[in-house]
Amino acid sequence: MFNGGASRLSIQSSFSGNLLSDQAFEAFQQYMHDQCGIMIGQGKRYMVQSRLGTILPETKTASIDELIHGLITNTLPVKTKTRIIDAITTNETYWFRDGRQFEVLAKVIFPELATHPFNALRIWSAGCSHGQEPYSISMAAQEFAQTQGVRCPNMQIIGTDLSHQVLENARRAIYSEFSLSRGLPNHLRQRYFTPWQEQWKLKSEITSKVSFRPLNLLSSFSLLGKFDIIFCRNVLIYFSSEVKLHILNRMIASLKPEGYLFLSSTESLPRGLTGLETLQAHGTRYYRRID
Ligand SMILES: C[S@@+](CC[C@H](N)C(=O)[O-])C[C@H]1O[C@@H](n2cnc3c(N)ncnc32)[C@H](O)[C@@H]1O
Repeated sequence: MFNGGASRLSIQSSFSGNLLSDQAFEAFQQYMHDQCGIMIGQGKRYMVQSRLGTILPETKTASIDELIHGLITNTLPVKTKTRIIDAITTNETYWFRDGRQFEVLAKVIFPELATHPFNALRIWSAGCSHGQEPYSISMAAQEFAQTQGVRCPNMQIIGTDLSHQVLENARRAIYSEFSLSRGLPNHLRQRYFTPWQEQWKLKSEITSKVSFRPLNLLSSFSLLGKFDIIFCRNVLIYFSSEVKLHILNRMIASLKPEGYLFLSSTESLPRGLTGLETLQAHGTRYYRRID
């Protein structure tokens, strides 16, 4: 794990029930930074207290401070630790988010890569949340393949996330009416979704290209192999520049030569990062590996 600053992981447990002490909050901030890269500002204190308070009844701990003490001393069951991480991460996402980037994908990158074996493309959605991002990529690829008369049964899209809960939802590929109303064009809903117990299930022609696995971006990801395209959007915004740099340097190494990287259009590269050139098309920025 990344260990950016001095670790202050020892606090005494106190029994203040649902109230979060200053000491425990500070220790939690440090833990989330060191273990997950996530920076939790002072303004998030109430959010932490309220989210940890919600899961407290499921755990065998008497107070939020005790829960945090168990977390940092590594004495909690794995299940409880996972629940804490799930509760703290922000998983906001929707279909075809940052639409101009999907235009670049469909109109610039796919046509260029179609002259290579399109079928063998490998794409990584890092911090994929509930799956809308990798499945939007899969739909875009399917639409492109159909209109161009190419086939892509072996295309691989890998979605990874720190939160186990979101990955469970992503694997099920069943979405509510509300979720579909956020960004999904009507013609794609009709083509790729079927009604499923008052919800909507994605068809296997889209899900079969996508696989999911848990991954903390602070740990090694070299085993995932090399990618033609990496999406890492709205994930690094929660990290310090130091951690961002550490992750992006390893992501560049995970790109094939001239492979592409997408951050969200509101994010920028941290200072001191080399190995990427900035490109612009369809009103948005994206990056390509240069050696
Ligand atoms: C706001 S969502 C972005 C989802 C999607 N990429 C998008 O742009 O719509 C951020 C995701 O990053 C994940 N995340 C946060 N820290 C992470 C870490 N250290 N390693 C892997 N994923 C992380 C969260 O669990 C969350 O699902």
